[in-house]
Amino acid sequence: MIAPARSPAPLVIHREDYRPPRFVVDAVDLDIQLDPELTQVRARLHLRRQSEADDQPLRLCGEGLALLEIRQDGQTLPKDQYRLEEGALLLLHPPRDFVLETLVQIRPIANTALSGLYFANGHFITQCEAEGFRRITYYLDRPDVLARFGVTLHAEQGPHPVLLANGNRIAAGQEAHGRHWVRWEDPFPKPCYLFALVAGDLGCVRDHFRTASGREVALEIYVEAHHLDACAQAMDALQRAMAWDERVYGREYDLDRYMIVATDTFNMGAMENKGLNIFNSKYVLARPETATDTDYQGIESVIAHEYFHNWTGNRVTLRDWFQLSLKEGLTVFRDQEFSADENSRGVQRIGDVRRLRAAQFPEDAGPLAHPVRPDAYIEINNFYTATVYEKGAEVVRMIHTVLGAAAFRQGMDLYFARHDGQAVTIEDFLAAMEGATGRDLAAFRLWYSQAGTPVVHAAGRYDPAQRRYSLTLRQEAAPTPGQPEKRPLPIPVRMALFSPAGQAMPLRGQEEDGAGDRERILMLDTAEQTWIFTEVSEPPIPSLLRGFSAPVRLEMGFGDAQRAFLASHDDDPFNRWEAMQGLALQALLAAIDQSHGAGVLPELLHGALAAVLSDAQMDPAYRAELLTLPSEDYVGEQMAVIDVEGIHCAREALRRAMGSAFGEQWAADYESLAFPYSRDGVSSGRRRLRNLALAYLLASDASYLDRTRQQYRQADNMTDHLAAFSLLVHQPDADVSDILADFYQRWQQHPLVIDKWFAIQASAPRPDTLAKAQALLQHPAFDWRTPNRVRALLGSLGANATVFHAADGSGYAFLAAQIRHLDELNPQIAARLATPLSRWQRYDAQRQGLMRQALEDLAGKANLSRDLGEVLEKSLKLA
Ligand code: TRP
Ligand code: ZN
Repeated sequence: MIAPARSPAPLVIHREDYRPPRFVVDAVDLDIQLDPELTQVRARLHLRRQSEADDQPLRLCGEGLALLEIRQDGQTLPKDQYRLEEGALLLLHPPRDFVLETLVQIRPIANTALSGLYFANGHFITQCEAEGFRRITYYLDRPDVLARFGVTLHAEQGPHPVLLANGNRIAAGQEAHGRHWVRWEDPFPKPCYLFALVAGDLGCVRDHFRTASGREVALEIYVEAHHLDACAQAMDALQRAMAWDERVYGREYDLDRYMIVATDTFNMGAMENKGLNIFNSKYVLARPETATDTDYQGIESVIAHEYFHNWTGNRVTLRDWFQLSLKEGLTVFRDQEFSADENSRGVQRIGDVRRLRAAQFPEDAGPLAHPVRPDAYIEINNFYTATVYEKGAEVVRMIHTVLGAAAFRQGMDLYFARHDGQAVTIEDFLAAMEGATGRDLAAFRLWYSQAGTPVVHAAGRYDPAQRRYSLTLRQEAAPTPGQPEKRPLPIPVRMALFSPAGQAMPLRGQEEDGAGDRERILMLDTAEQTWIFTEVSEPPIPSLLRGFSAPVRLEMGFGDAQRAFLASHDDDPFNRWEAMQGLALQALLAAIDQSHGAGVLPELLHGALAAVLSDAQMDPAYRAELLTLPSEDYVGEQMAVIDVEGIHCAREALRRAMGSAFGEQWAADYESLAFPYSRDGVSSGRRRLRNLALAYLLASDASYLDRTRQQYRQADNMTDHLAAFSLLVHQPDADVSDILADFYQRWQQHPLVIDKWFAIQASAPRPDTLAKAQALLQHPAFDWRTPNRVRALLGSLGANATVFHAADGSGYAFLAAQIRHLDELNPQIAARLATPLSRWQRYDAQRQGLMRQALEDLAGKANLSRDLGEVLEKSLKLA
């Protein structure tokens, strides 16, 4: 009998309903006969009752399993002692303490959802977070059940010479029919979501790391043999991450071996399985010819992220899935800080905030808004969101800001000391922070439970007679689904005051705590508050929310003069960038408002850009940030109704104007920044600035097409090659079919590069893009079963504003049709692709109607997955 994998009635899981497990698993022993068609999993679980005896059945989760045998303490269990239900095996009269042995059969080759055990490109791979283990065997599939795991893997030796699982390799041997086996045991008790196995024909890059206490750890990266030359960045990042966690948090690695496996077929970025991380190959493989500087950066941060999970996630794990941000928000904060220490802190912060604003702010303002610690869910896979990850990291960052680095570290030490080996809650984390520092974080808890992005309004007033400056901050927040009323949050506002000559002024007044004489952290924790600064000799220009000290929208009531002032004088790299962005944003909004292209550069913006362009001392990566216009999406976020066409035209016109106004400087930069390829931060910054210069030159002068084609042909690295390719393919009316064919021809053996080929075509702001995307669905290289490929084509199309939001609704209908198909194969990815449709409230009435129509059509689909069903239901509920 096969339990169905999909349940028809969506069940809402509530945080308040949490109950401790009635049974625990002391030990799990798995014996797995791997076969792509029919894999057999024999599981022996030592189960022990925790609660008072009751007559409730014991419910083990299981999905899509065919049960072949079931034994209790060695005896076949009679049929009247158990029952199979949808998604579960019920033991009707479980003893206090017993061994349950089950044998189930599964079909890895038919697993297109990529959750549980699947077979792709000749390899067996598992993905158990969040609830994939129940698709492997019957189990108490919840994160607060920690058990010791032992596993014996058997497989055909020829195609699957490498057999990996968590922990230590204990024994291995041959058996009949060309098969072999390997035994693995993990000494650390763990929840089943951290279980992993891999079987395949993989090569291995080996290195090692000596921990601070002198233990040797073997580091192994497993990839297909032809990728053995592409693991250097991953290995190097891993070693640096291990050293950083020792230096900054005093945390050492705990097993003798750390393994990483790369696969082309993976739903997410990577997974922190104990001792055996499994990675999307995008975050492992890199060579200068095939990977861009951005790709190298991504590898560094994801390798570090998964490594850091060994302490924040694995050694201390989650009580329940509502606590997801306890591991994800904290670990994102840790990987962001690692990248800031390893590279440029200012540039890192700008990138992190840009991502937060691009993904989390819109989520927080729409029908899928939820708190960092949600109260209810239908499908937990839908909650691996920008809010849980990125906003969660911002909340940890605010705690770090208000406590200071040293006290934060004491809090972390206490957190690990108290909770090592436990499954805990966000509350436990906060209690440890308080316990170690004596500080009261009661008010901060609201950041975890209240959804929505607060708006902070700032107003300053200078009194020359009294030489006083008063600053009033007021906060408000719009309602979110299920939370009509919002309470004031504690908002740390890092600030400084600048004299008209551009000097940060000494700060004197009622509040004396904070970060030194010329910078202070104001804690806005009521609806409105005023601060008074004394002995202020001249009218100051305030620099507020420095370093983006809280995840809020700041409304300053500034004019362009103040923005231009800060753009040239602010010594906080984030706020200087923010001031430049503000100038450009105002220019764009004004142009859209008057429905003319931003054909002329406003004088103050012109001056600020000229100053940056002539500052040769500045770090090129930072200079590139200052010279990059806000994205179309970010401009749209600032409008009451998003004017897709207006934004695109205004931004293109402004790019042209910037190109022609500074043609000579751009050309000079383009020539002078040409250096031989090297893989360091300064060189990648130069490439970034140089490619930005080329983009401006091409925007304003079509004769640069030839120069761009030349760069495409001659580049010796993927960053420059792809930058030129992208510029060419995104030209509104150039015929680039030769370039498209050439690129494909050159890179067809490299899936990660072919993903870029799909993505760049699908993001082209051209009238023929939709037809192109339609045709690409039929391309032999398009593959519905490979998430990277699906995201490259369909994810990029959904993010391509002018094409996706075409006024006739063709973009919506196209995407909906593909989601409908994908939902049959991979619900997790289908649900994610639907999120652009959930933002319908932000568009004009006609588009709203068309987007809702697309959502409703999808909602009427038969056999809708829980994942997609939840997204559709929430998107449509908000009338
Ligand atoms: N825990 C992983 C991380 O953030 C995320 C992840 C990987 C995941 N694979 C998944 C989440 C599958 C849900 C489903 O590092
Ligand atoms: Zn993570």
